Amino acid sequence: MDARRMEAVAPCAQAGGFARGLEEGLRRTPKELSCKYFYDAEGSALFDAICVLPEYYQTRTEVALLRRHAAEIASLIGPGAEMVEFGAGALRKIRILLDALDSPHGYSPIDISGDYLRSVVQQLAVDYPALALRPVEGDFTLPINFAMMPGATRQAGFFPGSTIGNFSPDAAMALLRRMREMLNGGGLLVGVDLVKDPAILHAAYNDAAGVTAAFNKNLLARANRELDADFDLDAFAHYAPYNPRAQRIEMYLVSLKRQSARLGDGRIEFAAGEAVHTEDSHKYSIESFREIAVRAGFAPRAVWCDDNRLFAIHWLESR
Ligand code: AVJ
Repeated sequence: MDARRMEAVAPCAQAGGFARGLEEGLRRTPKELSCKYFYDAEGSALFDAICVLPEYYQTRTEVALLRRHAAEIASLIGPGAEMVEFGAGALRKIRILLDALDSPHGYSPIDISGDYLRSVVQQLAVDYPALALRPVEGDFTLPINFAMMPGATRQAGFFPGSTIGNFSPDAAMALLRRMREMLNGGGLLVGVDLVKDPAILHAAYNDAAGVTAAFNKNLLARANRELDADFDLDAFAHYAPYNPRAQRIEMYLVSLKRQSARLGDGRIEFAAGEAVHTEDSHKYSIESFREIAVRAGFAPRAVWCDDNRLFAIHWLESR
């Protein structure tokens, strides 16, 4: 990616994007917000806290899978690769790959939370002095086209955490297709949460400590911090049921009473019981995810999953 392109990408993560997105989403009927707005510095920290909750099996299961199969994954990726990570977060998982890869050339993390990305990349640079780093502050759902780093043998995408689940199956297919184009023929390693007992899923998004509720409400807290809003956080409920027909967790903020809140120069009205849809988290079987990957132009080459069939990691090659 050249400098001009980086400038074009960077503003996506700034308050302008959030201000417009929040205003538009709350004026819509029914009200809905993109889950990408969860991830300011505060929200990224809350998500990190979710990842270590006893009910949230996803992160520890995926990390264990990456550790267990790191050598095999590294041999599929090959030597001298540039790793491109979509939605990089805390940069913990990539370290497992970097430690297993044969002389990785570079690492290009894309994340919407620029401040957070800068701080974690700084530490990574200390720990991997030979690695070429190209952090990109941006929204990976928008087209980003960057050439492979000079000196790398190939690009390989890394899209862990079942972030793909935030997209509808059609949107997931379109996103995978765009990632394939972005990767210039490179493969993609993607983590996908599996369909399973709804009770396990429900618990993972309704934790006893209330961290997921705080994460959900951070959308409103963030508006209060950044946009001169006055949402009453106690007047909204976190509600996250599993929809077994659609095979997804649906997350809402439900207004507990008729109320209005200031947002910038205007006000937003809520009826009693009115819901703001804030996130979907789709679950897939190994087969149903492979179908989507094939429709996106990938060839599924390998898949790893834990003994309890909680989580899967797919290695997809460009065809
Ligand atoms: C980051 C999309 C994987 O869907 O599980 C966690 C976000 N939302 N708890 C998920 C999330 C509520 C998470 N992903």
